[in-house]
Amino acid sequence: MAERVVLAYSGGLDTSVGIGWIGEATGAEVIAVAVDVGQGGENLETIRQRALACGAVEAYVADAREEFATEYCMPALAANALYMDRYPLVSALSRPVIVKHLVRAARQFEADTVAHGCTGKGNDQVRFEVSITSLAPDLKCLAPVRDLALTRAAAIEYAERRSLPIETTKSSPFSIDQNVWGRAVETGFLEDIWNGPTKDVYTYTDDPGFPPIEDEAVIRFAGGVPVEIDGRAVTPLQAIQEMNRRAGAQGIGRIDIVEDRLVGIKSREVYEAPGAVALIAAHAELENVTVERELARFKRTVGQRWTELVYDGMWFSPLKRALDAFIASTQVFVEGEVRITLHGGRAVVTGRRSEASLYDFNLATYDEGDTFDQSQARGFIELYGMQSKLAAARDAKLGRAPVL
Ligand code: ARG
Repeated sequence: MAERVVLAYSGGLDTSVGIGWIGEATGAEVIAVAVDVGQGGENLETIRQRALACGAVEAYVADAREEFATEYCMPALAANALYMDRYPLVSALSRPVIVKHLVRAARQFEADTVAHGCTGKGNDQVRFEVSITSLAPDLKCLAPVRDLALTRAAAIEYAERRSLPIETTKSSPFSIDQNVWGRAVETGFLEDIWNGPTKDVYTYTDDPGFPPIEDEAVIRFAGGVPVEIDGRAVTPLQAIQEMNRRAGAQGIGRIDIVEDRLVGIKSREVYEAPGAVALIAAHAELENVTVERELARFKRTVGQRWTELVYDGMWFSPLKRALDAFIASTQVFVEGEVRITLHGGRAVVTGRRSEASLYDFNLATYDEGDTFDQSQARGFIELYGMQSKLAAARDAKLGRAPVL
């Protein structure tokens, strides 16, 4: 039986040409796998037919939208995952779920190799290949763009020579990756990091400078997951989609950042993640109300480490899995409602209420009748500051106290 390769297929020029290109370079049969992670755009059946027309022996389409939202975006929300405090891991989250489907297809069609269309400069090649290795250490990896010299010019020439049913003239200046959690745009004039993004960069968000009248949403969470918006039950996927639409209309979630790639390059990326940014704002505030102080502080560190692991392609790693268990345990009481105002590019929390709240009005109030016994504060500070007092006395005795 001929060797078989499963190719992560997007329907675009590179992976369409990749089908024949891999076949010619390796003699293998190519199975094209397209995974729907809510990227929108072309109909998946059209994409499947194109793969077959480009020479794939099988073309497989997986609707992974609910799975992606529930098993990938929701853990990112639980972690309040923002790489370098800004980027909600859009592409980094989709790679592991895509790989799951690639590996499943490889097993089903008895392929020994998995191929992807990444270049040799980015994070995604690492994410694909480390994820493949983690799920199926016996499978080989192939990246035609990187390993088989499939350049863009060669791809255009190849597609035209074979009359492949794919647009070769439409040249977007950008490299774009998108899914339901957000959208990443790079290359073109954005590579000059002084150049501001132009209007045509954005599609998930409208101009925050001209927002419609302000919108307000009440999001109910249970176990750290959004379960209702304005009283209507939602699945995780529906919650993200609705917030994408509503926060997107207000221009929320535009991010322009020079980021540290795993491969050591600094790169400029423009993102739009209206739903993710609004949901993270609401979720993080509900944690402020329901998670005890020490747990909350430690969780911030864990969340950041989790985010870096996911960014760095370690979704299926033992450490990431262990941190998942920790983060899941922190979400048990993250329930209740958050009211959030969406306007002019900002998602601002204006109210929160929860049965699991640790906020005690009677302790916090500065009005009459509080239940907090202020006389106890004195003794607390006395003991709390004891170590500093002792150290200061020692420093003074030795003449090494800080100069005032
Ligand atoms: N820099 C982002 C990441 O590594 C996005 C990568 C894909 N971006 C793109 N425009 N093709 O997660």
